[in-house]
Amino acid sequence: MQRSYLKYKKVKNQIKSIKETWRNTYKNTYEEGLHFLIEGLQVQEIDLDNILLQIKNKVPIQYILQKWFFYDGEYFLNKHVLIPRPETEVLVDFIIKKFSETNKILDLGTGSGCIAIELSKKLIKTKLTGTDISNKALEVANKNNSQSNNPVNFFLSDWFSNINEVFDLIIANPPYLAEYENLDKSLLHEPKTALVSKNDGFFDLEYIISEAPRYLSPNGALILEHGIGQEKRLKEKMLINSYKKIELIKDLKGINRFILGFK
Ligand SMILES: C[S@@+](CC[C@H](N)C(=O)[O-])C[C@H]1O[C@@H](n2cnc3c(N)ncnc32)[C@H](O)[C@@H]1O
Repeated sequence: MQRSYLKYKKVKNQIKSIKETWRNTYKNTYEEGLHFLIEGLQVQEIDLDNILLQIKNKVPIQYILQKWFFYDGEYFLNKHVLIPRPETEVLVDFIIKKFSETNKILDLGTGSGCIAIELSKKLIKTKLTGTDISNKALEVANKNNSQSNNPVNFFLSDWFSNINEVFDLIIANPPYLAEYENLDKSLLHEPKTALVSKNDGFFDLEYIISEAPRYLSPNGALILEHGIGQEKRLKEKMLINSYKKIELIKDLKGINRFILGFK
């Protein structure tokens, strides 16, 4: 029998097993996930048993594929980084439009590096810095950095602990879910340090608001992604810390999702 035919038979059987396991696990409720998974797999190189196990454990397809799309890029991902979210693309879009002349931008809690790297690709004259508390996340960000001709300078920092300069714009999408919130099952595979924050989810957001002015140039701006319903308290915190021209920005669903303030 021809080798190519045997290969074809094997691939066909592998796809059949993936479809069966998927439908047993998700009970026909999430067919588009199956579609993306099969499209994205390099079927001839897969470890089928491992993929079937991950499907049974409801591991998000982005982690099974170890890649996902964000804005204009494709990002290598693993369990050490948050899966980039579509709402964060709105943040990137906003910054590209409003801060195109900015010299120096800092992305705090960079994770996969998706925000900083997409900005570095579009704002080719801007110097981008990205930091995270997780060395494992920084390994992922550095791997993704090769897609930019204006590479980001990534390094380890517990928020501002290793920052020794000022920036014209500081961005952060920090953890903002409360510790007591029942995490949706789909979030259980993502790093808890990327999701959960003390003080009802406000600890990191409020810490960044109070510390950022020391690391902003005159007229520099801070922009934060936040959770649903957190904007009122964050606006108050910005006012107490003397931020000016505070603006609430909505995501694609019309929900307040970002807050901007100037020093
Ligand atoms: C919600 S994720 C955002 C990841 C990425 N910026 C994105 O938008 O997809 C939050 C990130 O903040 C990082 N982080 C959590 N606590 C931190 C801290 N104290 N200092 C620096 N980074 C921190 C996490 O490791 C995680 O990568």
